[in-house]
Amino acid sequence: MQRIVIAIDGYSGCGKSSTAKAVAKMLDYTYIDSGAMYRAATLHFQNNHVMLSNQKEVDKNLENLQITFHVNPDNGNQETFLNGINVEDEIRSMKISQYVSEVSKIKEVRAALVAQQQHLGRKKGVVMDGRDISTVVFPEAELKIFMSADLKIRAERRQKELLEKGDVVALDKIVENLAERDETDSTRKESPLIKAEDAVELNTSYLGFEEQVNQIVELAKKRIGIDDNEYGSNH
Ligand code: DC
Repeated sequence: MQRIVIAIDGYSGCGKSSTAKAVAKMLDYTYIDSGAMYRAATLHFQNNHVMLSNQKEVDKNLENLQITFHVNPDNGNQETFLNGINVEDEIRSMKISQYVSEVSKIKEVRAALVAQQQHLGRKKGVVMDGRDISTVVFPEAELKIFMSADLKIRAERRQKELLEKGDVVALDKIVENLAERDETDSTRKESPLIKAEDAVELNTSYLGFEEQVNQIVELAKKRIGIDDNEYGSNH
């Protein structure tokens, strides 16, 4: 059966990662969280006290940056490793969220991570989410989705996620961080967040999680060229 690339782009906090993960599970595809790679790179730079304006330091630190994903056998979740160390929780903290847009603006950082993302997706059968997946990483992706949702709704969802991890953050602070990241991500010179011309737009403000996942899976099945009954038995 033909395997495709599903590229999901969109604003921070509109549920791209959890949606992409669920879509990948339903299709038995590999899920790749490109945002986690920018977050891991940010943590790496923070750990090594890299001055972002110092090109040499940035290049040197990119050389010894290794990001991998491994499934946790205890809960089945895919977790992010930075140079062999599990950093899944650390990269989701506000400390990283506040700094990640600055790191992801850097051309050399993007070139290094885009090359890794293209390598990870070379065999297709992947769902990758981020900001430039439809436009830069996989401009030939068979299915492109552009997700959006109202800022306040996104902030409330993010607050709940953080709270579930024991991180109590005021809503205002999250709104401010998301708005700032929207602005930086959409206006930066290198690979800004824009909707690809051939992307399907999905506003998830008032969509239930299952509904948004199903909509993408249905579109994917159409692109793969199969109907429901066929997929269940053949994949
Ligand atoms: O999806 P996320 O919020 O975890 O992403 C974190 C940051 O990484 C986001 O603010 C912008 C950056 N990013 C990017 O520039 N390009 C991508 N493909 C994915 C994320």
